[in-house]
Amino acid sequence: MERREFLKKSALAALGTAVAGTGIVQAFNHINDNESNTDKMKIVVLTGSPRKNGNSAYLAEQFIKGAEEKGHEVFRFDCAFKQVEPCRACNRCGMDGPCIFNDDFQELRPHLIEADMVVFAMPMYYFSISAQMKRVIDRFYAINGQIKGASKKAAFLMTYADTAKKEAEPMLVHYHTLMDYLGWTSVSEVVASGVWTAGSVRNTDYPQQAYQLGRSL
Ligand SMILES: Cc1cc2nc3c(=O)[nH]c(=O)nc-3n(C[C@H](O)[C@H](O)[C@H](O)COP(=O)(O)O)c2cc1C
Repeated sequence: MERREFLKKSALAALGTAVAGTGIVQAFNHINDNESNTDKMKIVVLTGSPRKNGNSAYLAEQFIKGAEEKGHEVFRFDCAFKQVEPCRACNRCGMDGPCIFNDDFQELRPHLIEADMVVFAMPMYYFSISAQMKRVIDRFYAINGQIKGASKKAAFLMTYADTAKKEAEPMLVHYHTLMDYLGWTSVSEVVASGVWTAGSVRNTDYPQQAYQLGRSL
């Protein structure tokens, strides 16, 4: 049932949203500015680059700075520096149970389940999300029953070297389709184009967008 749902969920709707809403030089913040929200959130930030001082890591840092200034509790998990096995599809977990692997995902698991918000920060690798990030997302499988349909917010911070909007679409479609499947609400995407060398994003206004996103929560 779950697998069928993976496929039949509204990929077309997500595509429409991403294509219509993807301005590469903009961050899209769908938060209602008029809505005062004093609730402190538990936020998980997943980073997906092997470059410690890279562009997506810097966006994540700026987001965290803003969120912590507003009193939110942030748990950061650097996927590229953790030992997380790729899902083996043994289905021992039944999509809602213990995983056969006793690795660093165990550290993340309770935070993901409890999180009010999950932020994905990563570089584009060959027009897609980085393998370091995907490996961790695939392990959501063992907690699928606990996170699917849970009331969570999400945000997406991505960096890439080229500037063509079209090239960012596969990652955004992936993200929106995942959000649609999980039933999480995407509040914002920061799509940082034209950044190649580690740290070059610092010379753009994308870090400010990420910071403002954190502050806006
Ligand atoms: C393996 C690999 C694949 C990449 N693929 C793309 C790509 O398809 N399109 C692109 O514009 N940039 C690509 N890049 C460049 C990175 O997306 C870019 O440098 C990004 O800012 C890196 O973010 P980071 O500093 O957080 O690692 C690639 C880089 C690497 C190392």
